[in-house]
Amino acid sequence: MDYFAGHRDEASLFTKSMTNLSVATAVDVAAVLDTKGVKLAMDVRGAAGDVVRAMMKANPELHGGVFDLPHIVPAAAEAAQADGLAERFTVVGGDFFEEVPVADLYVLKYILHDWDDDGCVRILKNCRSSLVDGGRVAVVDQLVGRIGEPGLAPVLAENPIHPGGRRWLATAELRPTLTPGRLR
Ligand SMILES: C[S@@+](CC[C@H](N)C(=O)[O-])C[C@H]1O[C@@H](n2cnc3c(N)ncnc32)[C@H](O)[C@@H]1O
Repeated sequence: MDYFAGHRDEASLFTKSMTNLSVATAVDVAAVLDTKGVKLAMDVRGAAGDVVRAMMKANPELHGGVFDLPHIVPAAAEAAQADGLAERFTVVGGDFFEEVPVADLYVLKYILHDWDDDGCVRILKNCRSSLVDGGRVAVVDQLVGRIGEPGLAPVLAENPIHPGGRRWLATAELRPTLTPGRLR
């Protein structure tokens, strides 16, 4: 069971901490990720949806949504309302190990590093199953660079925060988890 389901105040603090971590990156993601022609971008495990909201601000045609645990998604709906995006925004509560809502673009930001290869494959297979034909999955994560390169990821690589979680990814490590998930 999710600890935060029984500790709502702490859940709210955690979601806010995700926003602090994600706001700056979200603007960069929105700048590089082409959403032209995308009908619905779903921020999978999106917390308050900072990434998808930044994408929606960058593309006024884009509809977006957050898929997260049922007790987390109201924070995303509130944030979208505050941004004036409510009419183009949707939230869905659920468990991404069961299934994810249909979309033609999924964003997985700061997600895959939390899981071992089997977990990553399960997540990606669920995305593939619900993905509209021709759709895409965008993985946004910190990559472990060469030893000696500055950055947070090498430090975090030594300190996995999720029980059973994987190391942070080196670029080449992502490919084997994409293939069984039937993504390329
Ligand atoms: C590390 S945070 C990432 C948040 C966001 N993607 C970002 O980068 O700001 C992980 C999120 O996954 C959600 N979560 C945890 N277990 C989940 C599950 N089984 N199904 C869906 N969401 C889940 C948590 O509520 C949390 O918001």
